[in-house]
Amino acid sequence: MSYLVYARKYRPASFDQVIGQKPVVRTLKNAIDQNRLAHGYIFAGMRGVGKTTVARLLAKSLNCEQGPTSDSCEQCDSCVDIQEGRSVDVLEIDGASNTSVEDVRELREGIQYKPLHSRYKVIIIDEFHMLSKSAFNALLKTLEEPPPNTFFILATTELNKVPATIVSRCQTFEFKKITFKQITSHLKDIIDKENIKMSDYGIRLIAEKAEGSLRDAQSLLDQAVAFSGQTVKDQDLKEILGTISQDLLFQFSKVLLNGETEAVFDLVQDINTKGYDLRFFHSELITHFRNLLLVKTLKDTGDLLTLDRTEIQQIKEQIRQVSSDDILRCLNALQSGEQGLRYSSHPKIFFEVLMVKICQFKKIVAIQDILEHIKSLKSSTGKNRQKTSKKTTEVKPSPLENKTRSPQSNPYSVNEKKNQRKTGKNKERDKALKEPKVEEFLNTFKAQIISVDKKDKKKSS
Ligand SMILES: Nc1ncnc2c1ncn2[C@@H]1O[C@H](COP(=O)(O)OP(=O)(O)O)[C@@H](O)[C@H]1O
Ligand SMILES: [Mg+2]
Ligand SMILES: [Zn+2]
Repeated sequence: MSYLVYARKYRPASFDQVIGQKPVVRTLKNAIDQNRLAHGYIFAGMRGVGKTTVARLLAKSLNCEQGPTSDSCEQCDSCVDIQEGRSVDVLEIDGASNTSVEDVRELREGIQYKPLHSRYKVIIIDEFHMLSKSAFNALLKTLEEPPPNTFFILATTELNKVPATIVSRCQTFEFKKITFKQITSHLKDIIDKENIKMSDYGIRLIAEKAEGSLRDAQSLLDQAVAFSGQTVKDQDLKEILGTISQDLLFQFSKVLLNGETEAVFDLVQDINTKGYDLRFFHSELITHFRNLLLVKTLKDTGDLLTLDRTEIQQIKEQIRQVSSDDILRCLNALQSGEQGLRYSSHPKIFFEVLMVKICQFKKIVAIQDILEHIKSLKSSTGKNRQKTSKKTTEVKPSPLENKTRSPQSNPYSVNEKKNQRKTGKNKERDKALKEPKVEEFLNTFKAQIISVDKKDKKKSS
């Protein structure tokens, strides 16, 4: 027997085998059994979620020699022919390559004749939204009053491109993405039946890559077995799926979180020489930072991460010294660069600049700290005035004061040197605050506050 790809081999033969799509299946089964079927259906949804499959199941139910029945026999000639896609009365038309009004005219003429071997003619038009405007118009009348023995199923991945006049003449069903869990458990089934050896981690990698399309998942599995044979190693899978090496992602997050600007250019060059698309790398980097954030925030990440144990451990080590605020800031900046990178005519330069900007975050003072600083400045200038008149030597400095001022320059405290035990982080903050620009900025605030304070004093006296 010739080789069948998994997507065809595992195409559901009955409604009960359809994964997900419960509302669609239930409505159709009831309609068949109660003889309440409409003559035109639109099946909308992304690729590989069961539109063609359900259309064929509907055709089988209608034409089964024991039917019409929602529980087709699978034995009769009609059932077998339709399952194998060779029934003359079930027409599958590719809407993407038969877009003209002539194509529709031909179709209209064809359906004037009675079905050859079956009860009904079922016309399935795939990628229906690709028809031309005049082709749509030519179909309108037929959809409104189709010949008595004919059913139309119009499948589309872009419902928004189907004219409202057509939509209003049909019943529309929206096919949902297949969930991650459904995909992994379906893959496990196939792997068992086919005697394939693959780790749970490998299965999750494929399921994630499939992004809700069951056919994509099956095709990737096919590809993996073709590449590795019956035993598929994680490393092989990573290669097939074109996933960016985790090492490179970890190198990047280290550089960004530690603000190592000078390392950026070499790393970007590295991505380029390895042949990765920058936009793809960028989106993987976003996912990587999302993983960092998850591990930082949650005790148990459960099914939320597609990483193996050593990678999770590596994340834990990397973020030990980092706050979730820092990770969040990087993630936000990465996301806000997405649009720009997509449309930039110099993606490499755009990406480098974005990375350098994120590295500079370390030097930016959090607004909360500035506000606290302003508050404490205001209160301490007042207190200080009172206290100097009473000859007091010590005023408690504000939190920022503590971090920013060197003991000599702090006019408010004589004991500060003793009290202050700086962490490495404080030192960095200090350094940043000593940048001329930041100091100038803070000084402006101080000057303003002091002048406001003076005005207040004058008023009250
Ligand atoms: N909901 C589903 N349940 C079971 N198998 C599915 C489902 N969706 C897709 N598949 C698998 O993917 C293959 C292609 O599905 P198909 O119905 O042709 O997708 P499309 O939505 O693109 O028409 C099927 O042969 C089947 O193996
Ligand atoms: Mg299809
Ligand atoms: Zn049958």
